[in-house]
Amino acid sequence: MIVVENVSKSFGGKKLFEDVNTSFGPGKRFGLTGPNGAGKSTFMKILIGDLDPDSGRVLRPKRLGILRQDHSLFDHMRVIDVVIAGNPRLWQAMQRKEELLLKSEHNDDEGMELGELECVVAEEDGYAAESDAAVLLDGLGIVQSSHERPLSELKGGFKLRVLLAQALFGRPQALLLDEPTNHLDLESIEWLEDFLLSYDGVLVVISHDRHFLNSVCTHISDIDYETIIQYTGNYDDMVRAKAQVRGQVESGNAKKMEKIKQLQDFIQRFAAGTRSTQAASRKKELDRLRPDEIKRSNIQRPFIKFEFDKPGGRDVLEVHKLACGHNGERLFGGLHLSVSRGDKVAIIGRNGVGKTTLIETLLGTTPPIAGNIKWGHEVDTGYFPQEHEGVIPPGHKIFDWMFEQKPIAGKEGVRSVLGRMLFSGEDGDKPTATLSGGERVRALLSRLMLLRHNTLLLDEPTNHMDLEAISSLRDGIQSFPGTCIFVTHDRDLIETVANKIVAVEEGKIDVYPGGWSEYRRAKQKA
Ligand SMILES: Nc1ncnc2c1ncn2[C@@H]1O[C@H](COP(=O)(O)OP(=O)(O)OP(=O)(O)O)[C@@H](O)[C@H]1O
Ligand SMILES: [Mg+2]
Repeated sequence: MIVVENVSKSFGGKKLFEDVNTSFGPGKRFGLTGPNGAGKSTFMKILIGDLDPDSGRVLRPKRLGILRQDHSLFDHMRVIDVVIAGNPRLWQAMQRKEELLLKSEHNDDEGMELGELECVVAEEDGYAAESDAAVLLDGLGIVQSSHERPLSELKGGFKLRVLLAQALFGRPQALLLDEPTNHLDLESIEWLEDFLLSYDGVLVVISHDRHFLNSVCTHISDIDYETIIQYTGNYDDMVRAKAQVRGQVESGNAKKMEKIKQLQDFIQRFAAGTRSTQAASRKKELDRLRPDEIKRSNIQRPFIKFEFDKPGGRDVLEVHKLACGHNGERLFGGLHLSVSRGDKVAIIGRNGVGKTTLIETLLGTTPPIAGNIKWGHEVDTGYFPQEHEGVIPPGHKIFDWMFEQKPIAGKEGVRSVLGRMLFSGEDGDKPTATLSGGERVRALLSRLMLLRHNTLLLDEPTNHMDLEAISSLRDGIQSFPGTCIFVTHDRDLIETVANKIVAVEEGKIDVYPGGWSEYRRAKQKA
């Protein structure tokens, strides 16, 4: 059981939540929801103990399994060690023991310490750690040959799986997962759903994936109106209940406002005349009638709109017999693709098939194994990478960072783009280091909007985004007069936006110039 007592947290002048009292019991599955920047990750850091609240306290079990939103923390470590580090007590003891054993001699204190460390390692099942970790990794589809490699060499969905294995290592009593479905393909999300459904500890999971929340959660803790409210049921149930409560308060207020108006009219007409006593008593009634304060909801929609200055030629990209891979190892070959101005091309496929490699090859940052790539006349590409931790350097205000990208756009130009992306006024002063996951995505998209490219390459842009932002992105790509090539696992985005589909499968790649309907027909036939 995790118990939260009187917890409050603000940053600067902004209150995220105040006086939260709630608990998370075992056997139930809690979704922690709220729009980008609501404070979900902050609250989870408080639950974990990574961050202190301004006031209040949290009682938590000893063994926590944690997946943080920041995936770069363990980059330098070997994959297998990343998993073992999921049990910090064991991992620290193993590290210290190794350090001591490197010395040729030990004094008394060190000898004692070694004995104690030995006990910890034994208590925590340290001798089985490597094999336990390997079993988890195998189960998650991480092949043996990757176990010794540094985590940084694994990308997207595979890196996430290793971090999930870390969270699951050592049989935690509580699992706290911050956006576990980002980067995962549909099959892996289903696997995760099944796993979580059978987990019997305390589960708190942050996600913007409605489908995932609906299939996993028995309860929702929603951050809004500067507090956290717990609802029974899944995500859709919460949305309904929330709308109903708000509707009741609003209609109650409407009735009160009408009454107030009547009383005010009466008082105004009769305050000085023969009915002044009645007017005075109405005045008292009026003073008692205060509408319930409705705090503004934190749900907001950004306005994503891409435009360009020069359209570029009609033929945007011509790809002939392209084979892609790394270090001579081929992922797929034989790609023929023509992209015309205005095309919206979705690149789809499971984790690890080579979608990012294809984008990087098109951009020229990864050399092709074979074949030709020809970009058309005056094509100007803007790129949104899949891994964007570290892309926006820390130590700036977001406004200044944006302004540096294109001073010629002028302060007003920058302000207007930032405003549309929900960084208006003071939010432009936000330090780049403290942006939430979704805020960082909004900032990177703001940059693309400001730079006005005629061709966009977006690698899984919906990761970290809340539902409002995703639908705004969908509208933004759809109405973009330029060309967009995007990688995504988001079915809705593929179906509604793409007029061409590039489907990457193990070793082969197919193009469906008719978009989703053609792709589906072909799959049904197969
Ligand atoms: N150390 C900090 N100093 C100042 N502001 C911060 C700090 N950490 C977070 N914030 C701000 O607090 C707010 C909440 O951030 P948090 O990361 O908890 O959001 P979130 O709900 O997890 O959002 P997302 O869905 O985008 O991941 C954001 O506006 C963020 O900019
Ligand atoms: Mg977050």
